[in-house]
This record gives sequence, C-alpha cells and structure tokens, in this order.
Amino acid sequence: MSDKNKPKKSGSLSRRDFLKSSAWAGLGTALSSRMLKAKSPAAVQSAQESSDRINIAVIGVGTQGRVLVESCLRIPDIHFQAICDIWEYSQVYASRYLQKYGYKVNIYEDYRQLLEKEKGLDAVIIATPDWMHAEHANACMEQGLHVYCEKEMSNSLEKAQSMVRTSRRTGKLLQIGHQRRSNPRYIHAIDRLIHEKQLLGRVSQSYAQWNRSKSDMLGWPKKYTIPPEKLEKYGYRSMTEFRNWRWFKKYGGGPIVDLGSHQIDLFSWVYGTNPSSVTSCGGTDYYDKREWYDNVMAIYEFKTVQGTCRALYQVQTTTKYGGFYEAFMGDNGTIVLSEVPQFGNWAMREAHAPEWDSLAKDGLLESETPPIQKVDTKNVFLDVRVTQEAGRWPLPVELAKPPHQPHLENFFSAIRAGASLTCPGEVGYETALTVLTTNKAVGSPRKLRFQKEQFKA
Ligand SMILES: NC(=O)c1ccc[n+]([C@@H]2O[C@H](COP(=O)([O-])OP(=O)(O)OC[C@H]3O[C@@H](n4cnc5c(N)ncnc54)[C@H](O)[C@@H]3O)[C@@H](O)[C@H]2O)c1
Repeated sequence: MSDKNKPKKSGSLSRRDFLKSSAWAGLGTALSSRMLKAKSPAAVQSAQESSDRINIAVIGVGTQGRVLVESCLRIPDIHFQAICDIWEYSQVYASRYLQKYGYKVNIYEDYRQLLEKEKGLDAVIIATPDWMHAEHANACMEQGLHVYCEKEMSNSLEKAQSMVRTSRRTGKLLQIGHQRRSNPRYIHAIDRLIHEKQLLGRVSQSYAQWNRSKSDMLGWPKKYTIPPEKLEKYGYRSMTEFRNWRWFKKYGGGPIVDLGSHQIDLFSWVYGTNPSSVTSCGGTDYYDKREWYDNVMAIYEFKTVQGTCRALYQVQTTTKYGGFYEAFMGDNGTIVLSEVPQFGNWAMREAHAPEWDSLAKDGLLESETPPIQKVDTKNVFLDVRVTQEAGRWPLPVELAKPPHQPHLENFFSAIRAGASLTCPGEVGYETALTVLTTNKAVGSPRKLRFQKEQFKA
C-alpha cells in the first residue's frame, strides 16, 4: 500500500503513538535493556575527577545522537558537558536521560552559542541530518575541537571535501561514523581472515543488501510542532521534511546513502581499493511525496591486484526479505557478515579449498557445524551434490557491546593516546563519493566511471 492510501496525517500523532513508531520504540527498548550496564552516578563522579577525562558536547540529539550518548555512557572518563538541538523534544529527551546518569548538561539551540559559551571542551559528537554536518564539523574543528561526525559525511561532495580539508588544516581529528570499521568481528573477518590468511582465496564477487519493511513517514507529537518561522530559520521547509529529512534531496541522500553507505564502504575495505565504475538502477516507485529512490540496485567494478572484481548491492524499503548482511565470495570460500551476528557471522568453505581445521585449532575460526543433508522428496531424483549445503564455520569474535561503542572508543583513544582513526575523514570521503555517485548513476543510462584522483579530498 502506498502512502497515498494511508490517510494518517503527520502531526496528528499522540505522544504515545510517536514513541511507538519503529525507530523510537526500538531505541526505547535498546536504552531500557542497557540502562543498568551504563554508567552509574558514582562513575560520573569519577569521570569528573579523572585526569584522562574527555569533555564532550553532542550536537543533534535525535535518534542516533541518543544512541551515541548511550554508548559513550559506557566508556570510562567521558564527561558530558553540553548538548545542542534545535528541537525542544530532543533537548528534553536527551537532557533528562543524561540527568539519570548524574549529568546536568547545558542546553543550546544554536551550535554557535554552544561554541561561544562552553569552555574546556575537548570534542564534539555530531548527529544532525547529513546536510548540516559540514557546517557543524567545520565550525567545531576551527574552534580547536576534535569531531566524531555521523555518516553520511554530507549530501554534497564539496561540503564533504571541506570537512577533510578543515581537519587537515586545523590538525583536529575527524572520525566518520561508519562504525563497522571498528567492529572487532569485521576487523577479524576482513583484516585477519580475508587479507592476512587469504582464507577465501581470490575474492572477486561480493554481495550486500539492506532490505526493510515499508514504513510511513515519521510524525511528531503536536505539542512539539516547531513554528514555521523557526523551521525556516534553520532551513527546513516543513515539519514533515524536518522529521523525514533522509527522503529529501536538500537534506539527505535517500536509502542508498543512508543505509547502503555502511555496506558499500566494506567493498572497498575488502578489495583494498575504490570502485572504478558504478551502474545502477532504481526509482521512487512505491511511495508518494518522497524525493529519493525507495529502491536501488547497483553494480560496482573494482580493478584490484588480482584482476577485475565486482560487487552487487541492493537496498529495498518495502520488504525486509533477507534483512541486512554482506557476503564476500572467493574461489575457496565465502564469509557472510552482518552487524547483527545472527544474520551473518560465519565462513563457508568450497569443497576443493585447502583445509581450515588448523585455523580452527588456532582459534581463528570455530569448528565447522555439519552441513544440512536435505531429505529426498517423493518420486524426484535429487543429486546429492546439489542438495548438500556447505557447513558453516562460525567466526569466533563476539562484540559484547553496542555496535557504535568500539568506534567511539577508537575516537577517544585517538584523542588520548594517538591511536589511528579507523574511519578518518579521508575514508569517509571516499565512501561519500561512491554512494553519492550511485544516486547519480540511477539517473544515467550508462556506466559511470571513477577516476582515482576523484577519491582524494
Ligand atoms: N551510524 C549509524 O548507524 C547511524 C544510524 C542512524 C543515523 N545515523 C546518522 O545520524 C545522523 C542523525 O540521524 P537521526 O536518525 O538521528 O536523525 P533525527 O532526525 O532523528 O535526529 C536529528 C536531530 O538533529 C536535530 N537538528 C536538525 N538540524 C539541526 C541543527 N541545524 N542544529 C542542531 N540540531 C539540529 C534535530 O532536531 C534532531 O533532534 C544522520 O547523519 C544519520 O545519517 C547514523
């Protein structure tokens, strides 16, 4: 059913309906189940006294901003000093949440006032809509602050480029929020098994997808409607666009950028190079009143030292079939990964491949779970060679933390101890170029080619 057939009016939601809407309800569950494990007020006290303390502010405390806050609460010696958001709802929600953990933060509507008034800050976390990232990140770095900025770096390449350049010029750290880059399961699979151990042999094909069920446009509690003059002041054309910015060209890049960039980024990590071309197809076929493509299928080509490799990607917003995962396919085996390990955290060995038992003995893989032998169906001859599925070799690395926590930890270790960022602005820019060009390729009848120099910000 398209949006047209769903008469629900945005803006008429009760607060209860609003909280029940999937993204918010999901966050609520995540927060409440983790609350006990996050910092206690006593830990807050010790963060305030520690010499290792990092003072932070968060700009944009909407859905993702609060997910990042929750992860930071679990990291020692991170001290929340201020938050900034133009929406009262987000300000109230985030400040009350932080108060539960003993933080009485200063609250700002305009980031310029935050930068002017707050003294002693070390870093800022930015989780505003994509189109504001460059303005916010550049101002913070100019002010001498390190920046953790959510993906997508920007919905404009020029703006993304300006962020890398500001980071270089000011010498301030810029971490972009492609958090799989710091996930120990992904690091083990890609750096250790695929690159170092060459577990899969020659990897020349990859596939990834993010499929989601259909969803209505997000609403808001009436009491928190932002007056038109204020929306205009901050560049939003309406409350509907403010809440659903991802679907509008002015503010975001649509599903291929929003969801796809996390996974398309991995193709380049696995192949060790950026794509040489993209062909893509998609459209705004299902929903009304959304500007960006609600489905995209793209094929990337990579020229690697081992020859031409390809990757196929799809994002769907009307079916959750298959969920979200990535598969890297080599002539000796395949690794399937997902940020949710139940959807992918295993390797599959081709029958002719060198043995993997010694890797399992060394703890790099878990032992093979036996293949499923399919049962014969009546009167049909089934060849055992096609009915026998490959066994799975589970990967032994677990992440017993929220998925964004290691990425934030990497950022804070870079500030404290000079660790290398796993997703500095340069890497974020390469991914931004790839996904923003994929959107362009949807509207193009031909394959779009990338030049190597284009990836340099
Ligand atoms: N890494 C991930 O897994 C992940 C997941 C979801 C979202 N994100 C990214 O996080 C960012 C935020 O996404 P979201 O889902 O939280 O969106 P959201 O709309 O829920 O939250 C955005 C917040 O920013 C505030 N805001 C808007 N313009 C502002 C401005 N000029 N100054 C201050 N505050 C402003 C809004 O009021 C809102 O509270 C996006 O860049 C998105 O791509 C990343």
